[in-house]
Amino acid sequence: MAIDLRSDTVTQPTEAMFEAMRRAPLGDDGREGDPTVLALEALAAERTGKEAGLFVSSGTMGNLVALLAHTGRGGEVVTEAGSHILRSEMGGIAGIAGLFHRAVAGERGAMDVETVRGAISASLMPNRLAAALICMETTHNDAGGAVLPLAHMKAIHALGRAHGIPVHTDGARLFNAAVKLGVGAAEIAAHSDTITFCISKGLSAPVGSVLAGPRAFIAKARAYRRMIGGNLRQGGVIAAAGIVALETMVERLADDHATARRLAEGLHRIDPALVDLARVETNIVQVETRRFGQPAAVLVADLRQRGVLAGVWSNWVMRMVTHRMRRGISCHSGAGVPNGNVPRPARVTRSCGRHENPVPAGRSPALLIIASRRARCARSRRAPNSRTRESSFSGSPANTSNWRSATSGRRPCLRLTARQTRSARTDPCRPGATEMKIHLNR
Ligand SMILES: Cc1ncc(COP(=O)(O)O)c(C=O)c1O
Repeated sequence: MAIDLRSDTVTQPTEAMFEAMRRAPLGDDGREGDPTVLALEALAAERTGKEAGLFVSSGTMGNLVALLAHTGRGGEVVTEAGSHILRSEMGGIAGIAGLFHRAVAGERGAMDVETVRGAISASLMPNRLAAALICMETTHNDAGGAVLPLAHMKAIHALGRAHGIPVHTDGARLFNAAVKLGVGAAEIAAHSDTITFCISKGLSAPVGSVLAGPRAFIAKARAYRRMIGGNLRQGGVIAAAGIVALETMVERLADDHATARRLAEGLHRIDPALVDLARVETNIVQVETRRFGQPAAVLVADLRQRGVLAGVWSNWVMRMVTHRMRRGISCHSGAGVPNGNVPRPARVTRSCGRHENPVPAGRSPALLIIASRRARCARSRRAPNSRTRESSFSGSPANTSNWRSATSGRRPCLRLTARQTRSARTDPCRPGATEMKIHLNR
């Protein structure tokens, strides 16, 4: 089984979610309402401190409906240049909502307040559209899961208010931000008129997002949702999982953040150029591959062959997102391979991922990502009748399959070895577990 770090959207529903979906009371969301959808909307409103909520099928739909309801299809939207709305929502802001956007470069996803002040025009001018909406995003996807500081959000919201311009926040990973800041989601949402969050990411529900805001706004948004084909009918089948997600899955997001940190620290020990630890705030790790002359796509393809799925974020940036996997993962930093030799998979010398192993002189540090039923107890000892497949390669673009010839090149390159072990059913620590150990060695 692959270790899938492409996104937290790959999370599967929990058993409690399946059970809730089976038992959910249902109605017609487009008529009198579906009781389970209504319950999710009420819970979402409560958690975000807003008057009302609207269940939508995706984060993209939530943002689009917010754009439509706030602007009535006219004016300019001021948003951060790398925002999901601009980067990944297929131009819906222009193509469907009929809006022009003004992109403002951000630092860790945060737009400079004075630049925003200069970018907005409160009313239509002979040569300038009026700003109809200001958008923020937290956590910020393109900025590697960065959390907007509350003081920043407050300043942007105050700016919007001063000019009579509403503020919407794309909080697809709102609860990751809340857990990181140690505050309730409502404390973040307070600095925005409306907010969307996804239940289908780290919270593990299969489908859906909620847009929350003032009651009158949500009534308008509900009409726009219908316009774009978003009526959900017996939507309670999926909303039921969202209720379980909000009730049981928020606090565990801290585990994803801790795993991301271990992953980042392990990569950083291999080479500090790979990961800027200061930029790993939540569950997203951006890995810089430029220094190794290896486009992210090459490393991603090689990892895929060895059972680890990661994402290509840009030419030189690979993205790994931690989440609740069915088997869970743990990351161990430890001694890797002897420098300058053909790599051998390192041994996990401790059973608990909380302890770092010292790296003996003459050996490169390595990172082991282990997926097992018991992520916290991945043991080094192989089960007596385990089957092991080992492979190694160099990530040099010139030769990705032959380690020896690649190591003779002068350019430093990432080297990777993987070993897959199917342990015996009798192993008390890993009953039937499949482990994938990935070593990245410089
Ligand atoms: C910040 C942000 N906003 C919106 C979305 C869109 O969510 P969906 O995939 O449910 O449309 C995503 C998805 O990754 C996201 O990261």
